[in-house]
Amino acid sequence: MISVVFACIACLCWLIALTVMLPLTLIVTASKSFRSLFFSCVYSRLGEPFFKTHLDVARKKVFQLLKDNLKNKFEPLEVLEIGVGPGPNLQFYPDNCFLTVLDKNAGFESYFFKNLKKNSHISYQRSVIQPAEKMLDIDDESFDVVISTYLHCSTQDSSAVLQEVKRVLKPGGKYLFLDHVGFPQRDIGLYIQKFIGPLWTWYSDGCILHKDIATTIKEAGFSDVTCERLTFMNFTMYLLRHQIVGIATK
Ligand SMILES: C[S@@+](CC[C@H](N)C(=O)[O-])C[C@H]1O[C@@H](n2cnc3c(N)ncnc32)[C@H](O)[C@@H]1O
Repeated sequence: MISVVFACIACLCWLIALTVMLPLTLIVTASKSFRSLFFSCVYSRLGEPFFKTHLDVARKKVFQLLKDNLKNKFEPLEVLEIGVGPGPNLQFYPDNCFLTVLDKNAGFESYFFKNLKKNSHISYQRSVIQPAEKMLDIDDESFDVVISTYLHCSTQDSSAVLQEVKRVLKPGGKYLFLDHVGFPQRDIGLYIQKFIGPLWTWYSDGCILHKDIATTIKEAGFSDVTCERLTFMNFTMYLLRHQIVGIATK
């Protein structure tokens, strides 16, 4: 039933995007810089707050995994968060983190710094505007932990990102990840994700709903990878129903 409703919603979205919203659809499709600015504003003000209750459940799991996998919970940690966006994870960081953040989209910076002000427990280091595929300003083996949440769905080359994550991690360092993935093969949900896909990608600055990132992480050459699947059965989370959360060791 829920699939039928979402198939209808997807048709309606296409109809709206190609009629009343056509000028905006054309601009987000054609102009990369407008698309990035538009996405940073819409995601920070509407998208993330709309899904917050559910996404926070998954975010908490990431930081629980971090806690569970540290030898010494009180030791200072050099942490790099890639694809930080408006910083919705800040509230979950433990007190002993020295945090550097990276994002390719400078449009998120004002939202991030506003959020940072509300999280005084964070020892903020610096912000880097660069693609995670080529983190030129980040030194080799300089971080104990790298974190990404809902990043790989929109990266152009996730394998390159993962090679960069390994480069900047200290030996034995941990990579924590969380992302939404596709419905299982032949599930009607996968067809709906693919049908709404182009619209979602244009309006979400490159995000692909059904990317299979678990396999890419497992094949990236980490010494150990633990990956768990999460399923959200809520109506509003339908397109983001299937997610993965996990930890990899360099
Ligand atoms: C869906 S948002 C997620 C933001 C935040 N991490 C969260 O959990 O809500 C994706 C973020 O990843 C960033 N991003 C996408 N591709 C990237 C890349 N190749 N390098 C760096 N950042 C990237 C986007 O600019 C955006 O901030």
